[in-house]
Amino acid sequence: MQKLHTHLNTIINDLSKNGYAICENFLPESIIKALAAEAENRFNNGEMHVAKTGKNTSLQQPTFRNDSIYWLDEDSQNLNTQTYFTQMHVLKNMLNKSLLLNLHDMETHLAVYPISGVYLKHVDQFKQTNYAPKQQRLLSSILYLNDNWQAHDGGELRLYLNNTNSETANNYIDILPSAGRLVLFLSADFWHEVLPATRYRISLTGWFRAR
Ligand code: OGA
Ligand code: NI
Repeated sequence: MQKLHTHLNTIINDLSKNGYAICENFLPESIIKALAAEAENRFNNGEMHVAKTGKNTSLQQPTFRNDSIYWLDEDSQNLNTQTYFTQMHVLKNMLNKSLLLNLHDMETHLAVYPISGVYLKHVDQFKQTNYAPKQQRLLSSILYLNDNWQAHDGGELRLYLNNTNSETANNYIDILPSAGRLVLFLSADFWHEVLPATRYRISLTGWFRAR
């Protein structure tokens, strides 16, 4: 538990300073492996479906994203899923307290990108002006599940920094989707994309929503 709290404090500091955070070994290796195996099984058994982008019409080209997804249930009896949600709840409570956020619930899916799959540059939540939906994605979180991922495997998450409201911002960092790595960023502030990989690319993606 000591280790978890060190992790969480670093995440909170980085989020408040930069709007994003990267954390290694967010969950024990055995849990990461089990979550990866679950994603692979569901993918191989045809339980996943090809992801679609939202209502935003400009995002609806067929090649905009190639991942297949499976939504996870917070009430799942699966021990690995439970461990994930428990840690995310601890994180949520700390974020609400420390950063005065109003995070309420989450939506979460496993994702598998086929070889050469991509997700073109996008934001997860557009800033709303006079329209306020009940649930808003505030914070994006991606936990990567890929064992022994090498730089030459590609598949980076490209996260655009600085004035990222602008679609033309070209200052970015590339993050490899290595097992156990958790990436968090403010959903409306960071343009990002998934680059093609030479391997299947597995992740567990979640969004904390505001009430
Ligand atoms: C997403 C997304 C990035 C990644 O699902 O919205 O941007 O690295 N995923 O998987
Ligand atoms: Ni995204």
